[in-house]
Amino acid sequence: MDLSYLINHYGEERDQYFNSVAPPIIQASNFVFDSVEAMRASLADEMDVPFYTRGHNPTVAILRKKLAALEGAEECLVFSSGIAAISAAIMSSVQAGDHIVSVQKPYSWTARLLEDYLPKFGVQATMIDGTNPENFRKAIQPNTRLFVLESPNSITFEMQDIPAVVAIAREHQITTVIDNSYASPINQNPIEMGVDIVMHSASKYLGGHSDLVAGVLCSSRERCEKIFDTQFMNLGGIIGPQDAWLMLRGLRTLPLRMERIAQTAPKVVEFLENHPLVEKVYYPFSPSNPQYELAKKQMKKPAGQFSVLLKADKIEQVDRFCDGLKYFLLACSWGGYESLIFPSSVLYSAKAYTKPPDLPWNLIRFYVGLEDPEVLIQDLEQALELMEGEKKLVK
Ligand SMILES: Cc1ncc(COP(=O)(O)O)c(C=O)c1O
Repeated sequence: MDLSYLINHYGEERDQYFNSVAPPIIQASNFVFDSVEAMRASLADEMDVPFYTRGHNPTVAILRKKLAALEGAEECLVFSSGIAAISAAIMSSVQAGDHIVSVQKPYSWTARLLEDYLPKFGVQATMIDGTNPENFRKAIQPNTRLFVLESPNSITFEMQDIPAVVAIAREHQITTVIDNSYASPINQNPIEMGVDIVMHSASKYLGGHSDLVAGVLCSSRERCEKIFDTQFMNLGGIIGPQDAWLMLRGLRTLPLRMERIAQTAPKVVEFLENHPLVEKVYYPFSPSNPQYELAKKQMKKPAGQFSVLLKADKIEQVDRFCDGLKYFLLACSWGGYESLIFPSSVLYSAKAYTKPPDLPWNLIRFYVGLEDPEVLIQDLEQALELMEGEKKLVK
């Protein structure tokens, strides 16, 4: 199926809603039946037909079809947040007494789930450096049931060689789950590489407009049915029809937005890499990145997130730089139309961490949105000058 058809038409049955081009928001919690028999049949098939919106909603159903197809998966479930999706994916794969091997420094609340929450239910996790697939093998214990991947991972954007990690998992009958939010389904399709469960924070690229929080889980039909019957229906972190509709609208421009970012972000990275006040840039698609070849092998195009280590003597200089930016907004998240920065020092007081994260105070995560690269580079230039001024003041 070609991408344009998938995005514009697939899953939409317009003759069922007055041939309207855009699908309706079926804002209903429940659905009515003509007979007890029809009601009985519907409840027996709650994942696939309208009965009660926690299980199935026609607007969400269109979205599920498109998202599954985008990831090359048989089935998809949509959640109220990315962390609801990853929690469901992880919790559905383990039980008390099991062990998980996870890439180190995943998204903060994923780490918290693995290191702080699941141990209360008798599930232990070992966090490893995932840049070498053999580290997954070395961490396997007789009770290891799951590998958790996030490639690239959060903030420092190290990658895992996905097919190599999958091969090790399969040798040991271990399930694999990956957070694919960084790349979006446009740039990386882990199911094609053998991963069992793919999840996304749809609050990022899939929504694309910084106006919704949602999560996506794609897998085989069998696995999704199992998750539907347990974590999905029991924990109940479902998406509502209005947010589903917003995500459908976001998807219409997903390929265009990713293409634009693939053109812009490397230019901004190149400018920063050559600036005297920049120590280092962490970007998978930078030719100086030690994993550049892997990035090209498993991701189709560059995305918009990277981190920058500034040459600063004091945190005030980093703050001056961040406060001085006009186009890059100081805000969390990423994946919308607007460029953003997130200084690491903000995380030192974050609730997600039980101890301060191992990230230097002069590290800033960037997200390049849809602005012109020249405008963003000028913005960076002027803010770096402000930082230079602050440095002179200190001396
Ligand atoms: C890589 C990654 N995964 C998952 C999440 C969680 O997603 P949500 O905020 O939609 O729950 C985030 C959120 O920032 C993230 O950056």
